[in-house]
Amino acid sequence: MSRIAYVNGRYVPHRNAAVHIEDRGYQFSDGVYEVIAIHKGQLIDEAGHMVRLERSLAELEIAWPINPRALAGVLRQVIRRNRVRDGIVYLQITRGVAPRNHAFPAHRDSALVITARRGPPFDPNQARRGVSVITTPEIRWKRRDIKTVSLLGNCLAKEQATRAGAYEAWFVDDDGLVTEGTSSNAWIVGADGVLRTRHVGSEILNGITRISVLMIAADLGLDFAEEPFSVAEAKAAREAFVTSTTSFVKAVVKIDGDVVADGKPGPLAAKLLDNYGRHMNRQIAEAR
Ligand code: PDD
Repeated sequence: MSRIAYVNGRYVPHRNAAVHIEDRGYQFSDGVYEVIAIHKGQLIDEAGHMVRLERSLAELEIAWPINPRALAGVLRQVIRRNRVRDGIVYLQITRGVAPRNHAFPAHRDSALVITARRGPPFDPNQARRGVSVITTPEIRWKRRDIKTVSLLGNCLAKEQATRAGAYEAWFVDDDGLVTEGTSSNAWIVGADGVLRTRHVGSEILNGITRISVLMIAADLGLDFAEEPFSVAEAKAAREAFVTSTTSFVKAVVKIDGDVVADGKPGPLAAKLLDNYGRHMNRQIAEAR
């Protein structure tokens, strides 16, 4: 089956899908995006992703290309046309096409591209497999709270991780504190048993999975704190893990080659993953 993409009002074969060479996303990475998980045919945490998208657009003064209700319809069309039951939908909005000039164009004709891709279904047993991360200096710009397609710093760090045989790279700020991963949020269960992930602010992207996992932690009555942790604290932690739309909750068992605890995925990450599965299934039940 050939894939279908949505490009500025048209559904086109994915292999032929293209945008103009003077799209500001292409020239200036002047755009925003969202990645939403599809689980059993259902968009997960759609409302949260839409709230974040609205915020990203507002921060950059990019206009909605179509209204949010129409966008919700197109997302579903793209998922349906690509017959995705488990996977992701990617949407990107740029400031549109204009002769190259750094200042914003006079028009408000944003460009919209949506694609969908099949992926492995949610697997609660993924908790049994741990991944390794490396750490790298934080070199990105200061508005990491905006989900912009400007991801060069993230790409450089992920490439570093890949070359080191690691799954993810954690950025470390000038104070030695972990900000987040290149495409995920970073968590530990400290030596004191407290679950920690960095507080929101302009230093990190407020992950939608992060928000859900914090809610799950509160529901489970876990001791948690939204505060930063150092690399040393992470290495001495009982557990470490990452969260994202594509990774769900993934245990980290090695940091810069040093094993975390006994080098095996910890029980809390497994519990949170299990509850995250329930969180998704509840949304499926509610949608029916
Ligand atoms: N990345 N931090 C960064 C820098 C990210 O790029 C992402 C997501 C996250 C986690 O956010 P969420 O839980 O909403 O997925 C944190 C997506 C998956 C990506 O770029 O592919």
